[in-house]
Amino acid sequence: MGEKVVTLISKEAIEKRIEEMAREISADYAGRELFLVCVLKGAFIFAADLMRGLTVDTRVDFVDVSSYGKGMKSSAQMTLVLDLQDSIEDKDVLIIEDIADTGRSIDFLKRHIEAKKPRTVKLCTLLDKPGSRVLPHISPDYTGFIIPDKFVVGFGLDFAQRYRNLPFVGYLDFEDDSVE
Ligand code: IMP
Ligand code: MG
Repeated sequence: MGEKVVTLISKEAIEKRIEEMAREISADYAGRELFLVCVLKGAFIFAADLMRGLTVDTRVDFVDVSSYGKGMKSSAQMTLVLDLQDSIEDKDVLIIEDIADTGRSIDFLKRHIEAKKPRTVKLCTLLDKPGSRVLPHISPDYTGFIIPDKFVVGFGLDFAQRYRNLPFVGYLDFEDDSVE
């Protein structure tokens, strides 16, 4: 594959924004315990950085939702491949996502989480692509960056499992390459 990655959001800009978000979230949940639900795999790097900036008591657990297919298209079919280990009943839950795209996986997850009777559920996402939303009622409570409707990689986000390790967010430029 000969695609290039063009930087969209620098490492420095991401670090600064995550610190700001951590301060805002810490203020909003002051005096309470916050239960982070990190959505694998894409959000693990964001969640790790965000969590280290939080000054409230924090726990973390993980879920993994899979939409069929491994390409660039999000599909409507969703399955839960990893569930929470601990009870979240009566907890203040913050779902940590890498990106809100069509909104389908967040919608699916929110229903799943809400069925476990938490006290509150909010959504925090590093990136938001409102231009490609299929479910308009899905709107994050905390957003790192609003980005254009491009397929992005890096900082946890992948293309066919590659590029998660990039310390910045970029978009793929396929130039002369053909993609299936
Ligand atoms: P949804 O379309 O909002 O359900 O997004 C589902 C998932 O697709 C996200 O959590 C990401 O894992 C993935 N995804 C959506 N847009 C992108 C992108 O631009 N790059 C990499 N992964 C993406
Ligand atoms: Mg994801």
